[in-house]
Amino acid sequence: MSAVLKPVPAPARGELIVKASDLAKHFDVSPPWLNRVLERKPRVILRAVDGVSFEIRRGETLSLVGESGCGKSTVARLLVGLYRPTRGRIEFFGRELHEMNTASGRELRQKLQMIFQDPYASLNPRWRVADIIAEPLRAHALLQDRHAIESRVDELLAQVRLAAADRDKYPHQFSGGQRQRISIARALATHPEFLVCDEPTSALDVSVQAQVLNLMKDLQRDLGLTYLFISHNLAVVHHISDRVGVMYLGKLVELAPKRTIFLSPRHPYTRMLLDAIPDLEMTGRARTPVAGEVPNPLNPPSGCAFHPRCPHANDRCRREVPQFRALPSGAVHVACHAVEEGRI
Ligand SMILES: Nc1ncnc2c1ncn2[C@@H]1O[C@H](COP(=O)(O)OP(=O)(O)OP(=O)(O)O)[C@@H](O)[C@H]1O
Ligand code: SF4
Ligand SMILES: [Mg+2]
Repeated sequence: MSAVLKPVPAPARGELIVKASDLAKHFDVSPPWLNRVLERKPRVILRAVDGVSFEIRRGETLSLVGESGCGKSTVARLLVGLYRPTRGRIEFFGRELHEMNTASGRELRQKLQMIFQDPYASLNPRWRVADIIAEPLRAHALLQDRHAIESRVDELLAQVRLAAADRDKYPHQFSGGQRQRISIARALATHPEFLVCDEPTSALDVSVQAQVLNLMKDLQRDLGLTYLFISHNLAVVHHISDRVGVMYLGKLVELAPKRTIFLSPRHPYTRMLLDAIPDLEMTGRARTPVAGEVPNPLNPPSGCAFHPRCPHANDRCRREVPQFRALPSGAVHVACHAVEEGRI
Protein backbone atom coordinates (compact mmCIF):
# COMPACT_ATOMS: atom_id res chain seq x y z
CA MET A 1 0.00 0.00 0.00
CA SER A 2 0.94 3.61 -0.42
CA ALA A 3 3.37 5.31 1.95
CA VAL A 4 0.78 8.00 2.82
CA LEU A 5 -1.24 5.52 4.86
CA LYS A 6 -1.18 6.28 8.55
CA PRO A 7 0.25 3.44 10.63
CA VAL A 8 -2.63 1.51 12.16
CA PRO A 9 -2.21 -0.67 15.22
CA ALA A 10 -2.68 -4.38 14.51
CA PRO A 11 -6.43 -5.04 14.72
CA ALA A 12 -7.60 -6.78 17.86
CA ARG A 13 -9.28 -9.63 16.00
CA GLY A 14 -12.18 -11.09 17.83
CA GLU A 15 -13.79 -7.95 19.31
CA LEU A 16 -17.53 -8.00 18.67
CA ILE A 17 -18.38 -5.18 16.23
CA VAL A 18 -21.97 -5.94 15.21
CA LYS A 19 -24.63 -8.05 16.84
CA ALA A 20 -28.05 -8.47 15.20
CA SER A 21 -30.63 -10.30 17.30
CA ASP A 22 -33.96 -11.50 15.91
CA LEU A 23 -33.89 -8.64 13.42
CA ALA A 24 -37.09 -8.10 11.40
CA LYS A 25 -38.37 -5.56 8.89
CA HIS A 26 -41.98 -5.83 7.75
CA PHE A 27 -43.36 -3.52 5.05
CA ASP A 28 -47.02 -2.59 4.98
CA VAL A 29 -47.88 -2.96 1.28
CA SER A 30 -51.66 -2.78 1.77
CA PRO A 31 -53.86 -1.05 -0.80
CA PRO A 32 -54.88 2.50 0.25
CA TRP A 33 -57.25 2.67 3.22
CA LEU A 34 -60.32 3.62 1.17
CA ASN A 35 -59.86 0.70 -1.26
CA ARG A 36 -59.43 -1.64 1.67
CA VAL A 37 -62.67 -0.49 3.26
CA LEU A 38 -64.70 -0.43 0.02
CA GLU A 39 -63.35 -3.68 -1.38
CA ARG A 40 -63.06 -5.36 2.06
CA LYS A 41 -59.42 -6.12 1.49
CA PRO A 42 -57.21 -7.04 4.48
CA ARG A 43 -53.91 -5.39 5.36
CA VAL A 44 -50.97 -6.88 3.45
CA ILE A 45 -47.64 -7.21 5.24
CA LEU A 46 -44.44 -8.19 3.46
CA ARG A 47 -41.92 -9.81 5.80
CA ALA A 48 -38.74 -8.71 3.98
CA VAL A 49 -36.53 -9.71 6.93
CA ASP A 50 -38.03 -11.93 9.60
CA GLY A 51 -35.91 -12.94 12.57
CA VAL A 52 -32.27 -12.75 11.46
CA SER A 53 -29.45 -13.08 14.03
CA PHE A 54 -25.70 -12.89 13.48
CA GLU A 55 -22.50 -11.46 14.90
CA ILE A 56 -19.54 -9.93 13.09
CA ARG A 57 -16.13 -9.65 14.71
CA ARG A 58 -13.32 -7.18 14.02
CA GLY A 59 -11.40 -7.71 10.80
CA GLU A 60 -13.94 -10.23 9.52
CA THR A 61 -16.00 -10.30 6.31
CA LEU A 62 -19.44 -11.81 6.68
CA SER A 63 -21.20 -12.22 3.33
CA LEU A 64 -24.92 -12.58 2.77
CA VAL A 65 -26.08 -14.51 -0.30
CA GLY A 66 -29.42 -15.64 -1.65
CA GLU A 67 -31.70 -15.17 -4.63
CA SER A 68 -33.20 -11.81 -5.54
CA GLY A 69 -35.76 -10.56 -3.02
CA CYS A 70 -34.57 -12.69 -0.07
CA GLY A 71 -33.91 -9.57 2.04
CA LYS A 72 -30.15 -8.93 1.71
CA SER A 73 -30.41 -5.20 0.97
CA THR A 74 -33.03 -4.76 3.66
CA VAL A 75 -30.57 -6.19 6.22
CA ALA A 76 -27.93 -3.77 4.87
CA ARG A 77 -30.28 -0.80 5.21
CA LEU A 78 -31.29 -1.85 8.73
CA LEU A 79 -27.63 -2.04 9.75
CA VAL A 80 -26.79 1.49 8.63
CA GLY A 81 -29.97 2.91 10.16
CA LEU A 82 -31.79 3.67 6.88
CA TYR A 83 -34.69 1.50 8.13
CA ARG A 84 -35.99 1.09 11.67
CA PRO A 85 -36.39 -2.56 12.64
CA THR A 86 -39.95 -3.83 13.09
CA ARG A 87 -38.55 -6.20 15.71
CA GLY A 88 -35.20 -7.15 17.17
CA ARG A 89 -32.00 -5.32 18.05
CA ILE A 90 -28.80 -4.17 16.38
CA GLU A 91 -25.78 -3.40 18.52
CA PHE A 92 -22.53 -1.76 17.43
CA PHE A 93 -19.60 -1.90 19.80
CA GLY A 94 -22.12 -2.92 22.47
CA ARG A 95 -24.41 0.10 21.91
CA GLU A 96 -27.87 0.03 20.35
CA LEU A 97 -28.18 1.42 16.84
CA HIS A 98 -30.92 3.94 17.71
CA GLU A 99 -28.43 5.68 20.04
CA MET A 100 -26.70 6.89 16.87
CA ASN A 101 -29.41 9.46 16.38
CA THR A 102 -28.48 11.12 19.65
CA ALA A 103 -25.68 13.70 19.97
CA SER A 104 -23.42 11.22 21.76
CA GLY A 105 -24.07 8.68 19.00
CA ARG A 106 -22.45 10.85 16.35
CA GLU A 107 -19.01 9.35 16.92
CA LEU A 108 -20.52 5.88 16.59
CA ARG A 109 -22.20 6.93 13.32
CA GLN A 110 -18.82 7.81 11.80
CA LYS A 111 -17.58 4.29 12.42
CA LEU A 112 -20.20 2.91 10.08
CA GLN A 113 -20.44 3.51 6.31
CA MET A 114 -22.14 1.93 3.32
CA ILE A 115 -20.97 1.29 -0.26
CA PHE A 116 -23.75 0.85 -2.81
CA GLN A 117 -24.00 -1.22 -5.97
CA ASP A 118 -24.23 1.52 -8.54
CA PRO A 119 -21.23 3.89 -8.58
CA TYR A 120 -22.96 5.85 -11.38
CA ALA A 121 -26.05 6.70 -9.35
CA SER A 122 -24.34 7.25 -6.00
CA LEU A 123 -21.91 10.01 -7.10
CA ASN A 124 -23.23 13.52 -7.72
CA PRO A 125 -22.36 14.20 -11.41
CA ARG A 126 -22.01 17.95 -10.86
CA TRP A 127 -19.44 17.71 -8.07
CA ARG A 128 -15.69 17.38 -8.49
CA VAL A 129 -14.12 14.26 -6.98
CA ALA A 130 -12.42 16.30 -4.24
CA ASP A 131 -15.80 17.66 -3.07
CA ILE A 132 -17.46 14.24 -3.27
CA ILE A 133 -14.78 12.66 -1.08
CA ALA A 134 -14.66 15.63 1.32
CA GLU A 135 -18.46 15.72 1.79
CA PRO A 136 -18.55 13.33 4.79
CA LEU A 137 -15.68 15.27 6.42
CA ARG A 138 -17.75 18.46 6.15
CA ALA A 139 -21.05 16.77 7.08
CA HIS A 140 -19.55 15.34 10.28
CA ALA A 141 -17.54 18.56 10.87
CA LEU A 142 -14.40 16.45 11.22
CA LEU A 143 -12.06 18.91 9.52
CA GLN A 144 -12.60 22.66 9.08
CA ASP A 145 -9.32 23.85 7.65
CA ARG A 146 -9.19 23.87 3.82
CA HIS A 147 -5.61 22.59 3.69
CA ALA A 148 -6.36 19.79 6.14
CA ILE A 149 -9.36 18.71 4.02
CA GLU A 150 -7.26 18.83 0.84
CA SER A 151 -4.51 16.72 2.33
CA ARG A 152 -7.04 14.17 3.69
CA VAL A 153 -8.62 13.94 0.20
CA ASP A 154 -5.16 13.30 -1.34
CA GLU A 155 -4.51 10.63 1.25
CA LEU A 156 -7.84 8.94 0.49
CA LEU A 157 -7.22 9.08 -3.28
CA ALA A 158 -3.87 7.35 -2.73
CA GLN A 159 -5.49 4.72 -0.51
CA VAL A 160 -7.86 3.73 -3.33
CA ARG A 161 -5.02 3.97 -5.88
CA LEU A 162 -6.26 7.00 -7.79
CA ALA A 163 -3.94 9.84 -8.82
CA ALA A 164 -3.83 13.15 -6.93
CA ALA A 165 -4.68 14.86 -10.25
CA ASP A 166 -8.04 13.04 -10.26
CA ARG A 167 -9.26 15.33 -7.48
CA ASP A 168 -10.36 18.04 -9.96
CA LYS A 169 -12.24 15.75 -12.36
CA TYR A 170 -15.96 14.94 -12.52
CA PRO A 171 -17.46 11.42 -12.12
CA HIS A 172 -18.25 11.06 -15.85
CA GLN A 173 -14.51 11.22 -16.61
CA PHE A 174 -13.94 7.85 -14.88
CA SER A 175 -14.59 4.19 -15.67
CA GLY A 176 -17.00 2.14 -13.56
CA GLY A 177 -14.20 0.61 -11.49
CA GLN A 178 -12.64 4.03 -10.85
CA ARG A 179 -16.01 5.44 -9.82
CA GLN A 180 -16.41 2.64 -7.30
CA ARG A 181 -12.93 3.55 -5.97
CA ILE A 182 -14.20 7.12 -5.49
CA SER A 183 -17.21 5.72 -3.56
CA ILE A 184 -14.83 3.70 -1.40
CA ALA A 185 -12.63 6.78 -0.76
CA ARG A 186 -15.73 8.74 0.29
CA ALA A 187 -16.81 5.90 2.59
CA LEU A 188 -13.34 5.81 4.19
CA ALA A 189 -13.20 9.58 4.82
CA THR A 190 -14.59 9.38 8.37
CA HIS A 191 -12.16 6.61 9.41
CA PRO A 192 -14.98 4.03 9.63
CA GLU A 193 -14.43 0.65 11.24
CA PHE A 194 -17.39 -1.19 9.71
CA LEU A 195 -18.46 -1.07 6.05
CA VAL A 196 -21.72 -2.43 4.68
CA CYS A 197 -21.11 -3.24 1.01
CA ASP A 198 -24.28 -3.99 -0.99
CA GLU A 199 -23.27 -5.65 -4.29
CA PRO A 200 -20.32 -3.23 -4.64
CA THR A 201 -18.89 -4.95 -7.74
CA SER A 202 -22.05 -6.29 -9.42
CA ALA A 203 -22.24 -3.44 -11.95
CA LEU A 204 -18.60 -3.90 -13.03
CA ASP A 205 -16.87 -6.03 -15.67
CA VAL A 206 -15.38 -9.26 -14.34
CA SER A 207 -11.73 -8.12 -14.65
CA VAL A 208 -12.51 -4.82 -12.90
CA GLN A 209 -14.47 -6.67 -10.19
CA ALA A 210 -11.32 -8.54 -9.20
CA GLN A 211 -9.31 -5.29 -8.93
CA VAL A 212 -11.93 -3.64 -6.72
CA LEU A 213 -12.27 -6.78 -4.54
CA ASN A 214 -8.50 -6.97 -4.11
CA LEU A 215 -8.40 -3.28 -3.18
CA MET A 216 -11.14 -3.89 -0.60
CA LYS A 217 -9.21 -6.80 0.87
CA ASP A 218 -5.98 -4.74 1.07
CA LEU A 219 -7.83 -1.86 2.74
CA GLN A 220 -9.39 -4.30 5.19
CA ARG A 221 -5.96 -5.62 6.15
CA ASP A 222 -4.24 -2.22 6.31
CA LEU A 223 -7.00 -0.31 8.10
CA GLY A 224 -8.41 -3.14 10.23
CA LEU A 225 -11.86 -2.86 8.60
CA THR A 226 -14.82 -5.15 9.19
CA TYR A 227 -17.23 -5.87 6.32
CA LEU A 228 -20.77 -7.03 5.79
CA PHE A 229 -20.63 -7.95 2.12
CA ILE A 230 -23.72 -8.62 0.02
CA SER A 231 -23.62 -10.40 -3.31
CA HIS A 232 -25.63 -12.80 -5.41
CA ASN A 233 -22.36 -13.92 -7.06
CA LEU A 234 -20.93 -16.93 -5.21
CA ALA A 235 -17.54 -16.65 -6.94
CA VAL A 236 -17.20 -13.11 -5.53
CA VAL A 237 -18.35 -14.31 -2.10
CA HIS A 238 -15.80 -17.13 -2.24
CA HIS A 239 -13.06 -14.57 -2.96
CA ILE A 240 -13.81 -12.10 -0.18
CA SER A 241 -15.56 -13.84 2.75
CA ASP A 242 -14.52 -15.34 6.05
CA ARG A 243 -18.05 -16.53 6.85
CA VAL A 244 -21.15 -16.81 4.68
CA GLY A 245 -24.83 -16.46 5.58
CA VAL A 246 -27.41 -17.89 3.19
CA MET A 247 -30.81 -16.16 3.18
CA TYR A 248 -34.14 -17.45 1.94
CA LEU A 249 -37.37 -15.42 2.07
CA GLY A 250 -36.23 -13.08 4.84
CA LYS A 251 -34.52 -15.67 7.04
CA LEU A 252 -31.00 -17.00 7.45
CA VAL A 253 -31.06 -20.73 6.65
CA GLU A 254 -27.33 -21.43 7.05
CA LEU A 255 -24.36 -19.53 8.49
CA ALA A 256 -20.89 -21.05 8.44
CA PRO A 257 -17.20 -20.43 7.75
CA LYS A 258 -16.57 -19.99 4.02
CA ARG A 259 -14.68 -23.25 3.55
CA THR A 260 -17.37 -25.22 5.33
CA ILE A 261 -20.15 -23.66 3.24
CA PHE A 262 -18.36 -24.34 -0.05
CA LEU A 263 -16.99 -27.80 0.84
CA SER A 264 -19.80 -29.29 2.92
CA PRO A 265 -23.00 -27.24 2.72
CA ARG A 266 -25.70 -28.63 5.03
CA HIS A 267 -28.96 -26.84 4.13
CA PRO A 268 -30.68 -28.16 0.97
CA TYR A 269 -31.03 -24.59 -0.33
CA THR A 270 -27.30 -23.89 0.11
CA ARG A 271 -26.60 -27.12 -1.76
CA MET A 272 -28.92 -26.06 -4.56
CA LEU A 273 -27.21 -22.65 -4.90
CA LEU A 274 -23.75 -24.22 -4.94
CA ASP A 275 -24.79 -26.91 -7.38
CA ALA A 276 -25.56 -24.20 -9.90
CA ILE A 277 -22.06 -22.66 -10.02
CA PRO A 278 -18.78 -23.92 -11.46
CA ASP A 279 -16.80 -26.12 -9.07
CA LEU A 280 -14.84 -23.54 -7.08
CA GLU A 281 -13.24 -25.99 -4.66
CA MET A 282 -12.86 -28.75 -7.28
CA THR A 283 -14.74 -31.20 -5.08
CA GLY A 284 -16.04 -33.09 -8.09
CA ARG A 285 -19.68 -32.84 -6.90
CA ALA A 286 -22.32 -33.10 -9.61
CA ARG A 287 -23.74 -29.74 -10.84
CA THR A 288 -27.42 -29.06 -11.49
CA PRO A 289 -29.23 -25.77 -12.10
CA VAL A 290 -31.23 -24.04 -9.34
CA ALA A 291 -34.65 -25.69 -9.43
CA GLY A 292 -38.03 -24.00 -8.94
CA GLU A 293 -39.11 -20.41 -8.35
CA VAL A 294 -38.82 -18.20 -5.27
CA PRO A 295 -42.32 -18.16 -3.69
CA ASN A 296 -44.39 -14.98 -3.47
CA PRO A 297 -43.15 -13.20 -0.32
CA LEU A 298 -46.71 -11.91 0.30
CA ASN A 299 -47.93 -15.48 0.65
CA PRO A 300 -44.98 -17.56 1.87
CA PRO A 301 -45.32 -21.36 2.16
CA SER A 302 -46.25 -22.82 5.57
CA GLY A 303 -43.63 -24.44 7.80
CA CYS A 304 -40.22 -24.31 6.14
CA ALA A 305 -40.57 -21.72 3.34
CA PHE A 306 -38.23 -23.82 1.19
CA HIS A 307 -40.41 -26.96 1.33
CA PRO A 308 -42.02 -26.62 -2.16
CA ARG A 309 -38.52 -26.75 -3.71
CA CYS A 310 -36.86 -29.16 -1.30
CA PRO A 311 -36.16 -32.79 -2.27
CA HIS A 312 -36.09 -33.75 1.45
CA ALA A 313 -39.39 -32.14 2.52
CA ASN A 314 -41.81 -34.17 4.65
CA ASP A 315 -44.99 -33.46 6.65
CA ARG A 316 -43.11 -31.85 9.53
CA CYS A 317 -41.43 -29.48 7.03
CA ARG A 318 -44.85 -28.39 5.71
CA ARG A 319 -46.16 -27.77 9.25
CA GLU A 320 -43.36 -26.49 11.44
CA VAL A 321 -40.90 -23.62 10.93
CA PRO A 322 -37.37 -25.00 11.50
CA GLN A 323 -35.33 -23.18 14.16
CA PHE A 324 -31.95 -21.64 13.29
CA ARG A 325 -29.67 -23.73 15.52
CA ALA A 326 -25.92 -24.25 16.05
CA LEU A 327 -24.60 -27.68 15.07
CA PRO A 328 -22.45 -29.41 17.73
CA SER A 329 -19.25 -27.86 16.28
CA GLY A 330 -20.67 -24.43 17.21
CA ALA A 331 -19.30 -22.82 14.02
CA VAL A 332 -22.22 -23.77 11.77
CA HIS A 333 -25.85 -22.69 12.18
CA VAL A 334 -28.61 -24.33 10.10
CA ALA A 335 -32.42 -24.08 10.02
CA CYS A 336 -33.54 -27.47 8.70
CA HIS A 337 -35.54 -30.35 10.19
CA ALA A 338 -33.74 -32.95 8.07
CA VAL A 339 -30.31 -31.78 9.30
CA GLU A 340 -31.56 -31.69 12.89
CA GLU A 341 -33.04 -35.21 12.57
CA GLY A 342 -29.88 -36.52 10.89
CA ARG A 343 -31.84 -37.44 7.72
CA ILE A 344 -29.30 -35.58 5.54
N1 LIG B 1 -39.36 -0.23 0.73
C1 LIG B 1 -39.98 -1.38 0.46
N2 LIG B 1 -41.32 -1.48 0.47
C2 LIG B 1 -41.97 -2.64 0.22
N3 LIG B 1 -41.33 -3.80 -0.05
C3 LIG B 1 -39.98 -3.77 -0.07
C4 LIG B 1 -39.22 -2.58 0.18
N4 LIG B 1 -37.90 -2.86 0.08
C5 LIG B 1 -37.83 -4.17 -0.21
N5 LIG B 1 -39.05 -4.72 -0.30
C6 LIG B 1 -39.36 -6.13 -0.58
O1 LIG B 1 -38.67 -6.88 0.41
C7 LIG B 1 -38.13 -8.06 -0.14
C8 LIG B 1 -36.64 -8.08 0.06
O2 LIG B 1 -36.06 -7.05 -0.73
P1 LIG B 1 -34.49 -6.78 -0.76
O3 LIG B 1 -34.27 -5.61 -1.64
O4 LIG B 1 -33.98 -6.69 0.64
O5 LIG B 1 -33.94 -8.11 -1.45
P2 LIG B 1 -32.48 -8.45 -2.00
O6 LIG B 1 -32.13 -9.79 -1.42
O7 LIG B 1 -31.56 -7.32 -1.75
O8 LIG B 1 -32.74 -8.65 -3.56
P3 LIG B 1 -31.79 -8.31 -4.81
O9 LIG B 1 -30.81 -9.47 -4.89
O10 LIG B 1 -32.72 -8.28 -5.97
O11 LIG B 1 -31.10 -7.00 -4.56
C9 LIG B 1 -38.55 -8.07 -1.61
O12 LIG B 1 -39.73 -8.86 -1.74
C10 LIG B 1 -38.82 -6.62 -1.90
O13 LIG B 1 -39.79 -6.50 -2.92
S1 SF4 C 1 -36.77 -28.15 6.82
FE1 SF4 C 1 -37.53 -29.72 5.41
S2 SF4 C 1 -38.20 -28.55 3.61
FE2 SF4 C 1 -36.91 -27.20 4.83
S3 SF4 C 1 -34.91 -27.41 3.95
FE3 SF4 C 1 -35.01 -28.87 5.64
S4 SF4 C 1 -35.72 -30.78 4.72
FE4 SF4 C 1 -36.10 -29.17 3.23
MG1 LIG D 1 -30.46 -6.07 -3.00
